Amino acid sequence: MPSISIKERRYHYRDEGSGHALLLLHGFPFTHEGFAPQLASPPIGVRMIAPDHRGFGQSELGDEDRATTMEDMADDALALMDALGLTNAFVGGVSMGGYVAMALAAKAPGRVRGLLLIDTQAGADDDAGKARRETVATDVLAKGAAVVADAMLPKLFAPSAEQALKDKVYGLMLAQAPAAIAAASRGMGLRPDRMQALAGWQMPTLIVVGEHDAITPVAKARAMQATMPNAQLTVIPDAGHLANLEQPLAFDTAVAAFVRSAS
Ligand code: MLT
Repeated sequence: MPSISIKERRYHYRDEGSGHALLLLHGFPFTHEGFAPQLASPPIGVRMIAPDHRGFGQSELGDEDRATTMEDMADDALALMDALGLTNAFVGGVSMGGYVAMALAAKAPGRVRGLLLIDTQAGADDDAGKARRETVATDVLAKGAAVVADAMLPKLFAPSAEQALKDKVYGLMLAQAPAAIAAASRGMGLRPDRMQALAGWQMPTLIVVGEHDAITPVAKARAMQATMPNAQLTVIPDAGHLANLEQPLAFDTAVAAFVRSAS
């Protein structure tokens, strides 16, 4: 897997397919493998570039003692675009990856050809939510990644999800470094509300949500769509919070059509 160096920190990514560049930003606490079906078989005409956020997978965390903000992860993704010579790209993310995609769009709207917001939300955490982020961080540092994997697994999938997929996703979460999980949890607690910003973004946007998403439900996706001037919404049947993993065919079809129509 290729990597670049960002301030002497290794940043890994996968780069598959050819055509319009689509940056795919993974959720919490995953890696680029959260896009395994898409990377294995990118839709015709789409180049999929999926990094590991800092500390996850094979990317290095760097400073272990501070939160990894959504802006930090967006800066890394922009550095990757620079390294690959991409002046702009479609930018997409699942859940936390969606928070990062929105941070990138806020920082550098001219570099976003189109936005793909997957099982995510634009609101910030309330006070109780922020406190939970800190509890997750201290718990994972004290007890390991299983604390987070055990808590998240029951909320991730539609009722029809296969056990093999659940096992794979559980293994992926368990394999992540506690320091990276803690830093990202604290970073999510610091993210701003983006609802107002969404209203000003003119770029073509596709919002995708699993019909059974229990973490960022359909109502949140509809609220984002209603706020954005140029957004369409696709609700994926028989999918929960990981729509692209649970129903890759329906997901890929929607994304390929979006990229074609917005190019
Ligand atoms: C994710 O899937 O990335 C997380 O559930 C996002 C969050 O905890 O807000």
